[in-house]
Amino acid sequence: MDITLSVIKADIGGYVGHSSMHPALIEKGQECLEPAKRDGLLIDFHVTRAGDDLQLIMTHQNGVDNEQIHRLAWDTFEAGTKLAREMKLYGAGQDLLADAFAGTVKGMGPGVAEMTFTERASEPVLIFMADKTASGAWNLPLYKIFADPFNTIGLVIAENMHKGFSFEVHDVKGHKKITFNAPEEIYDMLIFLGTPSRYAVKAVYHREMNDVAAVSSTQRLSLIAGRYVGKDDPVCIVRSQGYLPAVGEVLEPFTQPHIVEGWMRGSHHGPLMPVSLRDCNPSRFDGPPRVWAAGFQLCNGKLIGPRDMFDDPSFDEARRRANVLADWLRMHGPFEPHRLPLEEMEYTTMPQVMKKLEGRFTELE
Ligand code: F6R
Ligand code: MG
Ligand code: MG
Repeated sequence: MDITLSVIKADIGGYVGHSSMHPALIEKGQECLEPAKRDGLLIDFHVTRAGDDLQLIMTHQNGVDNEQIHRLAWDTFEAGTKLAREMKLYGAGQDLLADAFAGTVKGMGPGVAEMTFTERASEPVLIFMADKTASGAWNLPLYKIFADPFNTIGLVIAENMHKGFSFEVHDVKGHKKITFNAPEEIYDMLIFLGTPSRYAVKAVYHREMNDVAAVSSTQRLSLIAGRYVGKDDPVCIVRSQGYLPAVGEVLEPFTQPHIVEGWMRGSHHGPLMPVSLRDCNPSRFDGPPRVWAAGFQLCNGKLIGPRDMFDDPSFDEARRRANVLADWLRMHGPFEPHRLPLEEMEYTTMPQVMKKLEGRFTELE
């Protein structure tokens, strides 16, 4: 049975500030998707949040980039925005950058990760949802999951994974894409993946089975809007088990919180802290950046779950280390490398300051 799993998300209003989401918006989302399930457009859905972002997790049989599905998501975000405005929630409708729906939500503000696949005899999927970071945040964990034998022992000892995975990488500034084969092209690939502000892993495929293993949202809000309107707060879907990495191999990279961009005003680096949904409310200095993981078993497209995968004491040490890293970075205040390099900052006063100081710069002897 071919199933499309669509995760479409947007920040349509925060509570309080940008830290979390009011439960009334989640209820509104459920209310909007329920009729689509009743009418058969959706097989199933789950509405949730990550920080201040509304997350619509939907299964159906209409394929990716389907107009009806995207319209449903857009209408849901608009209904939520209306409620957010009535409640005067913070930044109501923040990510809806277009006035009207035009066939797809792509390029209109919301983030999208979608994949179509034949549901296996048992189909575990993990949906990672991050807040206060940018789309390239998945590069490092996806590399570890699908190309690093120190993370994924299956690459070494599981016959059905030994031929490796291919990575579709998008140049989000140059509007280009390229596919690399791991393991033989990892050295070429890493120069790109190591530049997550520009290059982002869009999808990963099992080479032998030619089957999709992971898909992420690569929309960069600031590039769409041409100004800072909020962070991308990306999502990533990873299928698991069998000829794909085990659930534990997929979660393992998050035990070492890596440094991502997107903290405070989209202009700072901070550690990506793996948390439970309960703790996915970035508050300290509007952060640090968070990720939570919803695990589902699919059953003919029905979403059995979610299990809150980082709600496990074995991630306590990662959280503690993220807090230590957060302190260390915060100590730098307005200095790099906590603050992003000038050209990457979402907020800046540099043009105004430069203008004011124009006549005061003199040539060096
Ligand atoms: C939101 C974010 C926050 C805001 C900050 C200022 O994604 O990263 O850190 O940038 O709270 O928000 P405004 O400009 O809305 O007052
Ligand atoms: Mg927000
Ligand atoms: Mg957000």
